[in-house]
Amino acid sequence: MAYETIIVEIEEGIATITLNRPAVLNALNDKVFNELGEAALSLGADNSVRVVIITGGDKVFAAGADISQMANSTAVDVATREKVSHRAFQLLENLPKPVIAAISGYALGGGCELTLVADVRIAADNAQFGLPEIKLGILPGAGGTQRLPRLIGTGRAKELIFSGDFIKADEALRVGLVNKVVSADQLAAETRKLAKRFASRGAVALRLAKASVNEGLRMDLEAGLEYEHKCFSLLFATEDQKEGMKAFLEKRPAQFQGK
Ligand code: CAA
Repeated sequence: MAYETIIVEIEEGIATITLNRPAVLNALNDKVFNELGEAALSLGADNSVRVVIITGGDKVFAAGADISQMANSTAVDVATREKVSHRAFQLLENLPKPVIAAISGYALGGGCELTLVADVRIAADNAQFGLPEIKLGILPGAGGTQRLPRLIGTGRAKELIFSGDFIKADEALRVGLVNKVVSADQLAAETRKLAKRFASRGAVALRLAKASVNEGLRMDLEAGLEYEHKCFSLLFATEDQKEGMKAFLEKRPAQFQGK
């Protein structure tokens, strides 16, 4: 499928979505949100795709929602538009396979919020994160007030949301906003290395492990444990479980088929 604002490439079972509006620092307008949503649906349904990487440019991952699109918006415009971003981000978050965000340069506002829908975030050492919406007289409206506190805790999240300050990659690592920091020239290679590791695991087990974590976070502990047990039990119906355990006992690497 041809996209205008993103590039989607698939190589060896790993799909890479690259934000592609460099003239406006990859600002996210409705077109981008819609294309991200379409890409999520299409990659989610493509069984040849095992892992998805979301990335931007070298100097800017994404500078946030498109301010020029919002500047003269009415409340009604925004109520409709927010649904566009929420829909896209929920589709990405619920992709039934691992999603890794590879972040170089600025990840601000909606750009930072986009990284939060990934399962794992890898930052280049030049990355900067921030939710500067408060400085525009608004608040992070693409999931930032919800996903960031769940990821790094309410105190740290509120400090970022209330101040609008940017933090650098090392601080993002310290507060748990990213999983790993690598040198900028190694970002693509390191991300791909992790993606390949994920891709070598059983696709059904990955899918249910992700669902177990994501769904569990929406439940109380007891319901979450029950949900986990159902996912765990279901995996004993897969060939991958038989192969994984047989391979362990035979002291050889497992060859998973994703069924
Ligand atoms: N929307 C629209 N255009 C943007 C933009 C954005 N979020 N960010 C940058 N641009 C445009 C600039 O207007 C500029 O365009 P022109 O060349 O036509 O003047 C171009 O991109 C380059 O930007 P700068 O000249 O500002 O570049 P810089 O290197 O000096 O600064 C920056 C980089 C620190 C990222 C700065 O551009 C910046 O602060 N951007 C805005 C960040 C921001 O406030 N993001 C939050 C947006 S609101 C949001 O995301 C709401 C939500 O929760 C969904």
